[in-house]
Amino acid sequence: MIIKRVAIMCGGRSSEHEISCISAQGVLGAIDRSKYEPIVIGIRESDGAWFSLDLQSPFGKKSNGLPCVENGAPVDLRTLGVDVVFPLLHGPYGEDGTIQGLCEMMNIPYVGSGVLASAVAMDKSFAKPIFASNGLSVARGMVLTQQEWKSNQKEAMSRATELGFPLFVKPARSGSSRGTTKVKQADELSAAIEDALSHDPKVLIEVAVVGREIECGVLEINGSLHTSVVGEVRVLGNHEFYDFEAKYLDGSTEFDIPAKISESESVLVQAAAIKAFQALGCEGLARVDFFLTHDGSLIINEINTMPGFTPKSVFPMLWKAQGKSYTEIISILIESALHRRQHVVR
Ligand SMILES: Nc1ncnc2c1ncn2[C@@H]1O[C@H](COP(=O)(O)OP(=O)(O)O)[C@@H](O)[C@H]1O
Ligand SMILES: [Mg+2]
Repeated sequence: MIIKRVAIMCGGRSSEHEISCISAQGVLGAIDRSKYEPIVIGIRESDGAWFSLDLQSPFGKKSNGLPCVENGAPVDLRTLGVDVVFPLLHGPYGEDGTIQGLCEMMNIPYVGSGVLASAVAMDKSFAKPIFASNGLSVARGMVLTQQEWKSNQKEAMSRATELGFPLFVKPARSGSSRGTTKVKQADELSAAIEDALSHDPKVLIEVAVVGREIECGVLEINGSLHTSVVGEVRVLGNHEFYDFEAKYLDGSTEFDIPAKISESESVLVQAAAIKAFQALGCEGLARVDFFLTHDGSLIINEINTMPGFTPKSVFPMLWKAQGKSYTEIISILIESALHRRQHVVR
């Protein structure tokens, strides 16, 4: 059997740099070495420089103890003889079609969605209308650009107010809940908009959906789509929503895997997850996030084309509950990438 060389790419210029490094550490530890030879390429946060990292101790440490890309040997992807890239990058400059485009240009297969699906999934202002036109429900809301905000704040405020409080204000291309605020009354609105605009020149303002946060994994196995068991994220303590602290810092999040929902609700979620995946033309994998309201209706929130991928992250845990180990899903993803047939015919 020919061993394939897999470039695990991690770090990157996004707020999820450290999570990406933890994902890479996980994959490096679990990848099936009888089939794959891993190398690790780290992208430094400060300047986007690429390094080939030492397999034994790839990462430096941030002051908060989390791993990060510090230094290594300068690297050129074209000369490494890589068979497949595994872009374990989350957020802008990695999950958004940029690294995917680079791989396309270099003719190197890569794990996960292509350029368009990655870019559309990253930008909720584009993903939402596509979901809606495919029969999926989305939260009512509006898009506001920096330009519109600067030119007429009053008009923007009144449009938002008409949606009705409470509202969620969030960057169009957010991740990790950064820049997201729950706004309960009018006098908090403009600060929330300014904060979201400091992360992205385009923001979404949405009515707050009252419901449970439900997540489902989609995995492409031998060219066909499969769904995982459905999970629920429950935020405890005094968090108003699933914010950055709850996600990563203070341990106030619990996951019910499987979610305590009925069989018919679970089937509904799985079908909607596939529909969302196909609506955007995703490939390889995705985690699809929904709200399940008390009257049983399902609202899609977002789709993540490179979800958190540490062994403890939701996506691998959902698959573990489905009977597929972390090592197995890594192999499935690499094989899908190697057999991908979605390219435009030349
Ligand atoms: N319209 C909404 N209604 C209710 N909660 C929301 C809404 N939008 C966002 N949230 C809350 O904010 C969190 C982060 O928002 P999300 O759109 O998922 O951004 P991110 O890409 O940063 O994860 C969600 O998990 C949810 O808790
Ligand atoms: Mg989210």
